[in-house]
Amino acid sequence: MSPLKSTSPRAVAANNFAYMPGFGNDFETESLPGALPHGMNSPQRPAYGLYAEQLSGSPFTAPRGTNERSWLYRIRPSVKHHQRFQSFKLPAWKSAPNAADQELSLAQMRWNPLPMPIGETNFIEGIRTMTTAGDVFGQAGMAAHAYVANADMVDDHFFNADGELLVVPQVGGLRFMTEMGVMEVQPGEICVLPRGLVFKVELMDGSSRGYVCENYGAKFTMPDRGPIGANCLANPRDFKTPVAWFEEKETPCRIIVKWCGSFHVTEIGHSPLDVVAWHGNYAPYKYDLSTFSPVGAILFDHPDPSIFTVLTAPSGEEGTANIDFVIFPPRWLVAENTFRPPWYHRNIMSEFMGLIHGQYDAKEEGFVPGGMSLHNMMLAHGPDATGFEKASRADLKPVKLENTMAFMFETRFPQLLTRYAASLDTLQDNYIDCWTDLKKRFNGTPEGDWS
Ligand SMILES: [Fe+2]
Repeated sequence: MSPLKSTSPRAVAANNFAYMPGFGNDFETESLPGALPHGMNSPQRPAYGLYAEQLSGSPFTAPRGTNERSWLYRIRPSVKHHQRFQSFKLPAWKSAPNAADQELSLAQMRWNPLPMPIGETNFIEGIRTMTTAGDVFGQAGMAAHAYVANADMVDDHFFNADGELLVVPQVGGLRFMTEMGVMEVQPGEICVLPRGLVFKVELMDGSSRGYVCENYGAKFTMPDRGPIGANCLANPRDFKTPVAWFEEKETPCRIIVKWCGSFHVTEIGHSPLDVVAWHGNYAPYKYDLSTFSPVGAILFDHPDPSIFTVLTAPSGEEGTANIDFVIFPPRWLVAENTFRPPWYHRNIMSEFMGLIHGQYDAKEEGFVPGGMSLHNMMLAHGPDATGFEKASRADLKPVKLENTMAFMFETRFPQLLTRYAASLDTLQDNYIDCWTDLKKRFNGTPEGDWS
């Protein structure tokens, strides 16, 4: 792949960015021939006069299965990619513990989509925090954000020391120009940007809206499949990591940093996206949600939604995720004598949901694409009255759920609402009414009252 001197859309489109398949592989990639050292990491003089630099995603001594680092060969070392920092404000981006908003009342909540911004707003300026959970200082928990953007990051770059970012575009594609390569991510795809990775975002369709999960804890990995075996759910080959790409741009740029919940900015005279070659297993990746192979009930009952986990971020306590990223994709419903939608429940985990497109089977109305819902620790939820009626009387022939893609950020920690989320115009004040018409069916007879 040839290097780009420009990041204009025309140059980018002509470049046809390529990806390497696999999850957590030890990748190697170079955008100039011979730029990558072989058989060693740190030659006395790397080719092309590049600087060798390690980016660590785990402590040096982490066990082999979770030990992550990459070696970057770049035009300038990262110490040249910042000068003195100054304070920077992104007031809508909150971090846990967001104690100032803790008095907000408890409720099941649902929102219509965020309005698109009126003024010029790039991806990081457009992040609006809906909930926070855990503690950014303790590297545990997460934040659920929505974003709206209508402007490219041109000379601004960003890295997040507080956690990795899982991005879920819902409208409009995103082009992530990262120091380790370029990823184009359309609605229906997701991507993960590791903690510390420098990137900027261009909008492939002029504007974009979607969701971001900021993971303060151990990074996302693939869930174990247990008795399911070696195949289905998300398959490793469907995760795509970009090949090396760099720009040689000697004009003023800024890097904005998120660090322990605060923001800082530094100005430099060149682009920090200058990694000509890299190797290692700490890298960004994207994933097409349509490649998820769902497994479910083939005779009766409804499995727990954990069966739809794409990625899980462990908490250290086995089976208790810091975050599960779960999707609800198109699938066949075939269970006999079964109430097929998700059952009513109360959950020790806290659930933030979004809808990428179509309808969600437990809430055919009210939960719209681009919308969000929050069902917090131990707060009851389940199908609305209409959904319950329909599913309780349905002819249980095989039915294909089509045109649907919902997702959930589920965490072991309670999700504290932000004041922004609580006061959004798109908050549905009447959400709780969706259960009002659930009737008492108990009348003392085994048949119940289904009149
Ligand atoms: Fe739930």
